[in-house]
Amino acid sequence: MKMKSFKYIERFFKYRSAIDIVSKLGKIDLKEINECYAMFEFLRNMLVYSNKGNVVVFDVGCGKRPTFSLMSAHFIKNWEFIAIDPNLEIKDYKTERLSCYKCKVEEFDFSKYTNRTKIGIYIHSHAPAINVFDYLFIMPCCVDNLIKNKEGLFIIDTNIWYDKNKIYYYDLRRKND
Ligand SMILES: C[S@@+](CC[C@H](N)C(=O)[O-])C[C@H]1O[C@@H](n2cnc3c(N)ncnc32)[C@H](O)[C@@H]1O
Repeated sequence: MKMKSFKYIERFFKYRSAIDIVSKLGKIDLKEINECYAMFEFLRNMLVYSNKGNVVVFDVGCGKRPTFSLMSAHFIKNWEFIAIDPNLEIKDYKTERLSCYKCKVEEFDFSKYTNRTKIGIYIHSHAPAINVFDYLFIMPCCVDNLIKNKEGLFIIDTNIWYDKNKIYYYDLRRKND
């Protein structure tokens, strides 16, 4: 049996805000932290990460807790984060620049974000990849929500536990390519 990598767990807990993050989430779920940190690592190695402002990140199908968006709102100081899931537990997560919506992504009103750079993050999400984002990052689960008419790039991250360890990236700004 392959040994689990604890690289991302170690990196996460080196942040001064790590304990604050898990206490706000109300639970330490190492699998979730591992997957969300893997996505954060991938995102911060992409060019879009150098965009200093005017960015909104949508954490689509985040599950019961907004783990990725809450974590990233602590690590990335100038971006806004929005967690969306019909199963999301709505409460005050006491995190600046984080808001939570208990709904399907198809029901969310994106109209007030028209002039912002929109990043969609799908971590083992079952939601459809709707056509509103400038950039999409998808770690697929058992639902096929990859983009059909656009070449993406992907990595296989062996630090992610279990076999759903691909992360796809799409730059959708030039939609007619
Ligand atoms: C397998 S769970 C993954 C949860 C979390 N991202 C994780 O990795 O633990 C799939 C999630 O997709 C959500 N989902 C399904 N359809 C959705 C939709 N149309 N819009 C937003 N979220 C959706 C479900 O509510 C569920 O929380």
